[in-house]
This record gives sequence, C-alpha cells and structure tokens, in this order.
Amino acid sequence: LRHWFVWLTLILVSAGCTNPSMSVLDPAGPVGREQLKLIYLSTGIMTLVVLVVAVLYIYIVIRYRERPGQEGEIPEQVEGNKKLEVLWTVVPIILLVILAVPTIATTFNINEKPDPAESIRVNVIGYQYWWGFEYPEFGVNTANEVHIPTGKKIEFILRAHDVIHAFWVPSLGGKEDLNPERNTRLVLQADKPGIYEGKCAELCGAAHALMNFRVIAHPPEEFNEWIASQKSPDSTPQSDRGREGQRLVGQNCIGCHAVENAGYPVQGSTGPTLNAFSKRTRIAGVIDNNRENLTTWMVDPQGVKPGNRMPAFDHLTEEQIDAIVQYLLELK
Ligand code: CUA
Repeated sequence: LRHWFVWLTLILVSAGCTNPSMSVLDPAGPVGREQLKLIYLSTGIMTLVVLVVAVLYIYIVIRYRERPGQEGEIPEQVEGNKKLEVLWTVVPIILLVILAVPTIATTFNINEKPDPAESIRVNVIGYQYWWGFEYPEFGVNTANEVHIPTGKKIEFILRAHDVIHAFWVPSLGGKEDLNPERNTRLVLQADKPGIYEGKCAELCGAAHALMNFRVIAHPPEEFNEWIASQKSPDSTPQSDRGREGQRLVGQNCIGCHAVENAGYPVQGSTGPTLNAFSKRTRIAGVIDNNRENLTTWMVDPQGVKPGNRMPAFDHLTEEQIDAIVQYLLELK
C-alpha cells in the first residue's frame, strides 16, 4: 500500500511538471525568469549546505565509531574552539547575505510601478471562488480569463472581495496575496502568445483548489481586437431558442450575473460577468466551455466545483436549460 502511494505521488508530481504552461522551471516572461534565478540560487546554497553537513556527518560517524575493546569508554572531551565557532557563525551569515541581497533587490525591482504609458492596468478582484478582471482604461470587465498583449508590462492591481486569495501564474510569476482591505500590485509580462494557467495560491475555502484562471496572451493587434470584441459585440440572439434563453436569463440569472452588452449591468458581485461568454475557453475556470459542459454546470454546479455559490437550476425544464445554454453560446 505504501509503494502504491509513493508511485501515485510521483506520477502526480511529474504530471504537474509536464504541463509547460504551468511550471516555474519554464518561465515565459521576464518576472518568471528573475524568480527562477532566485530559485536556482537558493537551491544551490541549500544543496551546498546539505552536502557539507552530510559529508561531515558520515565522516564523524565512521571516524569516531566505537571500536572493539572500547566499549563504555568515554572519548576525550573538547570544550570550546574559537576557530570552529567563528567559522560556523560567519559562513552561514555569508550564505544568508548572498541569498538575501538578490532576493530583496529582485522583489523590489519586479514590483516597481510601471510607466502607465508603456503598461496596461488590470484590476483583479478575488471572490470565493472566481476571478474578476477589469480593464479601467478600456471599460471592459471579464471573469476567470484575463487577456493580455505580449511584450508589454501588465500592472495587476489585486484586491480581495471576501477572504485572502493569492494570484499565481507559475510560468509568468507571482505569487501575490489579494487582501480585502488594501490593494497589492503584481507586474507580469508574457514573451509569447499562449495560454498560461493560473491558480489561487492561498487556502480560501472549499473550492480553493478549483479557483483557477487563465492568462491568454495575444500579439498586440490581436489583443486590441479582443478588447473591441468585448465592448461592441452583437449580443442579440440569432435563434428563437436563444431569444427564449435571453428571457430566461433575465428572470433567473441577472440577480447574480451581469451581461453588460445585453443591457444587464453589474448589480451585485455574487457571480462572474457573462459578457461575451462564448469567447471564454472554460466554464468557472474548471471545465471546457461547450454545450454539454454548460448544461452539466447549470444542472449541477456543486458537482463540478464543490463549494461555489451557484445554486443548481434543476427547477427549470430541460428545454429551458437548453435555451439558456443556447443564449450563452450566442453571446459573442
Ligand atoms: Cu482563493 Cu484559494
């Protein structure tokens, strides 16, 4: 049983390592690279310390072992040795300085406020258990997926709506806590277009482990197109079923969710905005966005993401659920 557990752990750990978009060892931006340098430095120093201690330990255990004929004999006792004491005090101090200076310098450098003309600001609001993203310069709101242009500094201003969360995109950088009382900042940048997985890195409740998000990096022109698509999409349903869905969303969903482009503004902040929903790659940050999964989510959200605040809409008929799903998938 123990072997089985060890293998399972190894498989799980290595599975984590093979996802290139979620490894701190495969940084995809300058902040991730700076942080990786610190990881290498501290791992190097730790390895050195472990090696020296292990070698000394093995040497002493063998050299001063009890030999035949010495049973019960007490060896020569040594009290105080100035040279050795200075050595084992000064060497760790030097090692700590070597570790501390670049760590503190990097910590301040990477979180420096970027020039607003050369960066984009994104407000990140952490909720139990989803992520709200606001682009104040563009008047755009979205949820669980944050789109950014490549090669540009993104100033994430972090704030928690309820409890403390932490914003972490392993391959780009982090983590940084989100507090309810004050803003924090994390500046990240992506070199190349792609999808970078993000996680909440602070235990925040039942669905903490599923509080995922995505950073989707585009070339700058494509990012501008994405922003435009969020601001002026055609939100009128194209099908009869979609129109029925819109009516049902108005009755059932907008108490918690906004659909800004369809005239349902943000009222509370219970649930993520559904604006341009069909453009999202995933539902609630955990399952792929498609018709089947969306139906499953509507009927049994607690089965998909236990602990989240969405109630099951199982009082609606199958046709009604289907109409809502149709409407959401038509929200371009
Ligand atoms: Cu939010 Cu863990």
